[in-house]
Amino acid sequence: MTRDVIIAPSILAADFARLGEEVAAIDAAGADWIHCDVMDGHFVPNISFGADVIRAIRPVTAKPLDVHLMIAPADPYLEAFAKAGADIMTVHAEAGAHLDRSLQAIRALGKQAGVSLCPATPESAIEYVLDRIDLVLVMTVNPGFGGQSFLASQIEKIRRIRNMISGRPIRLEVDGGITRDNAAAVAAAGADALVAGSAVFRGGDYASNIAAIRAAAEVPKPRQGSAQRAGETMLIR
Ligand code: DX5
Ligand code: ZN
Repeated sequence: MTRDVIIAPSILAADFARLGEEVAAIDAAGADWIHCDVMDGHFVPNISFGADVIRAIRPVTAKPLDVHLMIAPADPYLEAFAKAGADIMTVHAEAGAHLDRSLQAIRALGKQAGVSLCPATPESAIEYVLDRIDLVLVMTVNPGFGGQSFLASQIEKIRRIRNMISGRPIRLEVDGGITRDNAAAVAAAGADALVAGSAVFRGGDYASNIAAIRAAAEVPKPRQGSAQRAGETMLIR
């Protein structure tokens, strides 16, 4: 079965001392993708983990590893993350001078290419790379930390990017402060992949937390674009 909305728990909110178990637990709890937040203490003011951790969790799950690279520069490390087992590799538009080159490099490594935009970055940053990407990641907090509050200013950007994507097979992912309470609003604006860290790991019942976010996001909404017709999409699943 293919699913309308992807739920991608962020392991940034996991217990790192038991990371393998935590990945297995969110997999069993219904995660569609495993979102991996890579932070370098330079592009963002926090350090998380690198390619060795991606390699360590790769055997634990068959779900796609959705690797969000909050690092600058990104290009020198793309091959390492690809070899470590990333499926989707997302770079930030703000992280380097040559976004088009970075995206080409990701696809040349045989991976799905994503581009992320910080809250202050306008959607025009991706206008000329739309044919090079499989995913757009709209940051709904300033990247660097889990547990921050959702920025409602990004709803309009999500809506505009949904229109820019038009019929292209591109996932529109949102990341930061996503909860069961705002999932409907981001989905209605056009998001079809939702990252959630705190809202999945909080309280320990990962399955019911994931189900609640999914149920909120999958409330029927008017579909946009001709590529939404059954059988026409080639979206990442
Ligand atoms: C922020 C990260 C997010 C973060 C989400 O820089 O990219 O993926 O972990 O965590 P919550 O859902 O707690 O905001
Ligand atoms: Zn992220």
